Amino acid sequence: MTRIVYVLPDGAERLVEASDGESLMRAALQNDISEIVGECGGEMSCGTCHVYIDDAPDGIDPQSRDERELLDMVDSARPSSRLACQIAVRPELAGLCVRIADAQ
Ligand code: FES
Repeated sequence: MTRIVYVLPDGAERLVEASDGESLMRAALQNDISEIVGECGGEMSCGTCHVYIDDAPDGIDPQSRDERELLDMVDSARPSSRLACQIAVRPELAGLCVRIADAQ
């Protein structure tokens, strides 16, 4: 289990013990964080798992071209934007701060 901090759009924080190997999107859903929708189930076609990760640690999954292309179509995208379904939880991410984008 790895501790992840989700910051909701209203600024509230939720600390989650996430199972290693599952995605940040699934970990949010399993912990009733409804601000992440995950409509496509992680197929990288909806963008409803949009988050911001400002200080990405070395062990984080790199962004693929497909992920970047989908994020390019999202209005609220920033350089720190990621799709939570494309990042696997692992011990190196302990304490990671995941800011959930406003509009999913
Ligand atoms: S859950 Fe649809 S793109 Fe991540």
